[in-house]
Amino acid sequence: MLNCSRRKLLRAATSLAAVGVCGGVATASVGMSQPAPGLAAHAAARGMFYGCAIDHDTLAGPPAALAHVPAECSMVVGEYSFKWDSTQPARNDFSFTRADAVMDFAERNRLRVRGHNLLWHEAVPAWLPKILTSANGEALLTQHIEAVAGRYRGRMAHWDVVNEVVQPDDMQPLNLRDTLWTRALGARCLDIAFEACARADPTALRVLNEFGTDYAIPWQERKRAALLTLLADLVARRVPIQAVGLQAHLDAAEVTLDQAVLAKFVADIASMGLKIVVTELDVRDDRLPADPVARDIAVADHAGAWLDAVLPNPAVLGVLTWGLSDKRSWLDAKFPRPDGLPQRPLPLDDKMSRKRLWSSIAAGFDGLTPRLANRL
Ligand code: G3I
Repeated sequence: MLNCSRRKLLRAATSLAAVGVCGGVATASVGMSQPAPGLAAHAAARGMFYGCAIDHDTLAGPPAALAHVPAECSMVVGEYSFKWDSTQPARNDFSFTRADAVMDFAERNRLRVRGHNLLWHEAVPAWLPKILTSANGEALLTQHIEAVAGRYRGRMAHWDVVNEVVQPDDMQPLNLRDTLWTRALGARCLDIAFEACARADPTALRVLNEFGTDYAIPWQERKRAALLTLLADLVARRVPIQAVGLQAHLDAAEVTLDQAVLAKFVADIASMGLKIVVTELDVRDDRLPADPVARDIAVADHAGAWLDAVLPNPAVLGVLTWGLSDKRSWLDAKFPRPDGLPQRPLPLDDKMSRKRLWSSIAAGFDGLTPRLANRL
């Protein structure tokens, strides 16, 4: 494993090489006339993968833009298509048009697919909370997972079986978030979901996916501790969880990124025999000044510091960003910039040119000791 200072040098070199510098002023982004190997090639050289979230609107977009997905990625995840309100919009009325479109695109382009997600308190169809009870909850959840995970049996690399279940402030047992699922089934909803997924698609890596574990701030310190306690309970009870997804929705203006805290958190997860996937990386810049070059540098450096703390752990399998280009990010709706400018949270700009963040992710892989290629 390279030491930190060598990774920093490598990061700087990669960043300059990949981003044009004209007259001493670095441009915000430059086109790559002959695209160098994509991020997936940098990842694969270290036995890892890189991918991004796509969806039906990505697939319906300009083919020239869509072509960047297979050029950069070896994996994709549906940003919305596999969620409950997309796949079972009406009770017992399953709809796989959008999910099939993502899967078909991926398989045509020899990309692996992450399923996202099977148990969540959001993206819930309107009919579900109206009828869900402790009496029918297990059957409803099991039926859904059997139908959705079963449909893609053998074709899905991972499933985010359980999404965003930790919320210490809700004061629930095991620090679980108070949701329609825990009110109906208690903590058993996790066991039911993981066991149903293991039966429906034994080959998909079963992941618990979580956000808010990135910074040395009180609520995230509580969340990291609560997540570790939950994971220890699940592992001790032999619930068939195999991995943890760290969403990594980062904030370039956050000054409490502590690499030692992050590295220990990742090591604590790995010590339980669990793998780790960086599942939704992006970097909000709404609290930064408008200048795109300054934003790109801050976003790239922030992501680089996070990646340099996390990627060296051999339990980490790969990285996905929550989108590929700034053309579309959930962040613009969630955290609109005061100046109204679109955010610049992703590896490619709105013209599909590689940015400093692209170089920073590449350097994050390049700085690692190669590890055995994983098919997880
Ligand atoms: O496509 C339908 C459209 O047909 C329908 O008319 C319309 C009616 O509201 O909804 C459209 O679906 C929207 C969907 O995105 C696809 O664009 C949903 O309203 C909207 O709520 C949904 O937002 C997604 C959100 O999860 C909720 O599912 C965001 O795009 C997506 O980025 C966000 O992703 C989450 C991860 O799943 C979990 N981690 C956090 C992350 C960011 O919130």
